[in-house]
Amino acid sequence: MMTMTYKNIQTEKEEQIGIVRLHRPTVLNALSHELMEELVAALQEFDNDDKIRVIILTGSDKAFAAGADIKEMSDETTVSIMLKDRFATWDKVRKTKKPIIAAVSGYALGGGCELAMTCDIIIASETAKFGQPEINIGVIPGAGGTQRLTRAIGKYKAMEIILTGRPITASEALAAGLVNKVVPAELLLDEAKVMAKEIAKKSPVAVKLAKEAILKVFDTSISEGLEFERKNFYMLFSSEDQKEGMRAFLEKRPANFTGK
Ligand code: CAA
Repeated sequence: MMTMTYKNIQTEKEEQIGIVRLHRPTVLNALSHELMEELVAALQEFDNDDKIRVIILTGSDKAFAAGADIKEMSDETTVSIMLKDRFATWDKVRKTKKPIIAAVSGYALGGGCELAMTCDIIIASETAKFGQPEINIGVIPGAGGTQRLTRAIGKYKAMEIILTGRPITASEALAAGLVNKVVPAELLLDEAKVMAKEIAKKSPVAVKLAKEAILKVFDTSISEGLEFERKNFYMLFSSEDQKEGMRAFLEKRPANFTGK
């Protein structure tokens, strides 16, 4: 196990899993610009590390993240916030090629909820609270909430959450389809690791192209999406993992994927 420490996050590697922990405990992991830059750097580092197959993004028991840093934003003007274009950094999280599992305990509010939704799978502890409370401070979600929440749970529930600002519990989030599963808080990271290990066993080439094809659904028509999927499928036939995977099936043995 190797650990690298940034100022606002902690990273660690456990076999083929890269773990990023948001760590600004005094402000419930409020997502400052500095934290987001460190997060993007850590994600890129794991993305470029051949040994890492899956990334887990987590926070503390009390907070995944309570949102963008309100203190940092409060004095901005339209022009200053536009010129800084801080959400451009947030957008880089979306460019991560390896799957990211968000392991969410406690508050996932505003930017915290948006960050979790930018991940690919969300596992929540029973204590998790998801919400977009920006309306309570006179603004609206600015890091994808109106788009991703609506796509995840539909117009009516998204309207309620964004217009009332009321957070929902982990079990409400599960029923709405916002999270994959809900587990006791003490098992959160273990459950995320179990899923990460399952994915890590697969061909990383296939995992990468599958993630890419699934995300395509959000910005394309069905016919273009199907075409994209088919091309990714055909592309996999130039990988050694495709030969190994199919041969292993026919020889009735487990496949040994190398990522080539
Ligand atoms: N930004 C900056 N600081 C924050 C913060 C945030 N988003 N959330 C919490 N903090 C700070 C508090 O100011 C407080 O600091 P001090 O000790 O210096 O006073 C500390 O974290 C602990 O917070 P509380 O005392 O408020 O803790 P609590 O347990 O009483 O309440 C809470 C917890 C309900 C999450 C409450 O902190 C809260 O409502 N936070 C703000 C949630 C929010 O509005 N998020 C949206 C932000 S805007 C956004 O995210 C825009 C976007 O789309 C990207």
